[in-house]
Amino acid sequence: MTSGGTAVLDDPVGESLRGRHADLGRRLGRAATYLPGVATFSAVPADADAADWAGLARLLGRDAFADMFSCRAAPPPEWEPVFVLEGRQMIWPGGNHPDQSRAATATDVVELGAADVPQMLDLVARTQPGPFWPRTLEFGTYLGIRDGGRLVAMAGERLRPPGWTEISAVCTAPEARGRGHAARLVSTLAAHILARNERPFLHVAETNSGAIALYERLGFASRKHVTFRGFRTP
Ligand SMILES: CC(C)(COP(=O)(O)OP(=O)(O)OC[C@H]1O[C@@H](n2cnc3c(N)ncnc32)[C@H](O)[C@@H]1OP(=O)(O)O)[C@@H](O)C(=O)NCCC(=O)NCCS
Repeated sequence: MTSGGTAVLDDPVGESLRGRHADLGRRLGRAATYLPGVATFSAVPADADAADWAGLARLLGRDAFADMFSCRAAPPPEWEPVFVLEGRQMIWPGGNHPDQSRAATATDVVELGAADVPQMLDLVARTQPGPFWPRTLEFGTYLGIRDGGRLVAMAGERLRPPGWTEISAVCTAPEARGRGHAARLVSTLAAHILARNERPFLHVAETNSGAIALYERLGFASRKHVTFRGFRTP
């Protein structure tokens, strides 16, 4: 394992933008943000000072959306709050591999590419798994399941703090639920991540009890409560 520590999971956006995702973002001093179309997430350190917030404001521009993900630092008062969402971070606890039988029998799982983005955006609009943008696919592997040519389920890789890969955009069309699609996709991705000596983790809204139950059954454990926040720059 390249890095087994969980401390990097306290700043998954900043750790990704300073490392594996450096070429997918922009940085100014200790502030960083993803390129437009890839993600809206931005980061400053937990002990951010006025210069860090000013740096982020310069990166984003005036009156712009600052999606701070789970950043614990509070911006200056003139940054207007846009949203707050309570969630939890869940991690693969290590040791055993995920349910290999599910992953092994996932013959209907296909890798998605740029040509699939319109269908992926349509599925996201119908299922609301969380943020997904036209270039989010550049984060890593995205897997899908089709039914009659139509994309009915998907999941993919997003944040990449050292030693970890976040599983994200887990969604199944309402008419295709309860058939084990999400379980197969998450298990397949988790096996893929573990095979390169990283550990999977994910984030889920605290109110999403169905998804939390699914992840727990697949072997994920809750690591901590997180609060997602967004602001508007002054
Ligand atoms: C959560 C979601 C992805 C599950 O997709 P799915 O393909 O129906 O899931 P699966 O069929 O693999 O379900 C696996 C298990 O979880 C259970 N489960 C799935 N959704 C559930 C729900 N809403 N409530 C309770 N249990 C649920 C299933 O019963 C199944 O259990 P079983 O294998 O013992 O029968 C789907 O409901 C969805 O797209 N929701 C909206 C988007 C979302 O919230 N995504 C998660 C973001 S973190």
